[in-house]
Amino acid sequence: MSGFVIAVDGPAASGKGTVAQGLATLYGLPYLDTGLLYRAVGVSAQRQAGGVGEASATAAAQALDPALLDDPELRTRAAGELASQAAVFTGVRAALLRFQRDFAAQGSGAVLDGRDIGTIIAPEAPAKLFVTASPEVRAERRWKQLSGQGESVALADILADIRLRDERDSGRAAAPLVKADDAVLLDTSVLSIEQAADAARRIVETARANWAKA
Ligand code: CDP
Repeated sequence: MSGFVIAVDGPAASGKGTVAQGLATLYGLPYLDTGLLYRAVGVSAQRQAGGVGEASATAAAQALDPALLDDPELRTRAAGELASQAAVFTGVRAALLRFQRDFAAQGSGAVLDGRDIGTIIAPEAPAKLFVTASPEVRAERRWKQLSGQGESVALADILADIRLRDERDSGRAAAPLVKADDAVLLDTSVLSIEQAADAARRIVETARANWAKA
């Protein structure tokens, strides 16, 4: 039997990263924030070619420098936008596929979060969560996060970003953001971080018990 894999998907600022990190710590599993890969591609295409187009983004994905993943610029609002522009291209997604699949396949098991983990990257994962929250709640969370990083943006602008990204991520042809049929929906709109972590743990415990029996 291969390792226990937890797939966590969901829209921007839904709390999926916090939930995924908490699960990784709890179960002692390596964790991959796949959004960072797309952010790195977007930022690198911007730096090298002055913008995100199919050719520049695909080239950036094929030559991705892992050192870039630690760059704080990847956490900015602009990087999130560049990432979602780059993520629509099949060449970009294909270039990032092997790394993510290998990460999921390591013997220890793993936790990955993103948009297509339960559908494309690790469709056989024994535990799948789809973490969501209302656009207003997500905008407020993202606004707090960006303000904490020293980036000052109006809440209304963040809400507009979130709606645009939802539309682009869900509407694209290549690996759109969609809940896998066998993923458990976790709506964190009215949950604290602790409550969301607790709900996620319960979902995963059930999945783990079934997986251990199989
Ligand atoms: O943190 P946030 O949810 O805002 O974004 P992220 O997870 O860092 O992802 C940034 C963008 O990358 C998303 O809007 C998606 O367009 C794209 N992405 C994707 O297409 N597939 C993934 N597995 C992860 C991210």
